[in-house]
Amino acid sequence: MAKMDFPLSEVYGLLETGPVVLITSHVNGKRDVMAQSWHTMVEFEPAIVACVVSDRNFSHELILESGECVLNIPTFEIAEKVVGCGNASGRDLDKFAKFGLAVSPASLVGAPLLDECYASLECRVFDRIPAYELFLLQVVKAWVDPDVADPKTLHHRGFGAFMIAGETARFPSAMK
Ligand SMILES: Cc1cc2nc3c(=O)[nH]c(=O)nc-3n(C[C@H](O)[C@H](O)[C@H](O)COP(=O)(O)O)c2cc1C
Repeated sequence: MAKMDFPLSEVYGLLETGPVVLITSHVNGKRDVMAQSWHTMVEFEPAIVACVVSDRNFSHELILESGECVLNIPTFEIAEKVVGCGNASGRDLDKFAKFGLAVSPASLVGAPLLDECYASLECRVFDRIPAYELFLLQVVKAWVDPDVADPKTLHHRGFGAFMIAGETARFPSAMK
């Protein structure tokens, strides 16, 4: 492959594995939803996910105050709503109403589950690395629609471009 020099400031678009999630948060009657893609699993059991949530975001405030949130995994069908939730702040707007996001109560946390997302992970803040605005979230309850076999998840490539997943290849020798 003939590789060329690539700007360091755009490296994230190569490594940002996703899937893009919609993080819902809730505290004292305030709620919010934001798009998020800088996350990674760091432990199997307990299931721990490391998530960068900028402290400029209203969601950061709500997650910090409540110590909880839900990672909802959307698919291509609601891509426009995902982009909308990633380009407006819940400080000045009810994004649930604006983007028509139906919700259901979670079982262990105050933040809601998004009905249109095929999976929702209820999380509690386990630890933080404030210098990187990084939350280590423990998944305490997981919900998945069993009818969605090959979810068309969104994988951000930077500058408004998304790669869409959809096919599953199985290699039994690569089991965990
Ligand atoms: C595809 C996509 C991925 C994003 N990933 C992140 C992320 O990983 N961390 C982050 O802090 N903001 C991320 N954002 C930006 C937030 O979603 C955006 O700042 C949002 O307006 C915050 O909303 P809030 O103020 O209501 O919390 C992303 C936006 C998009 C569109």
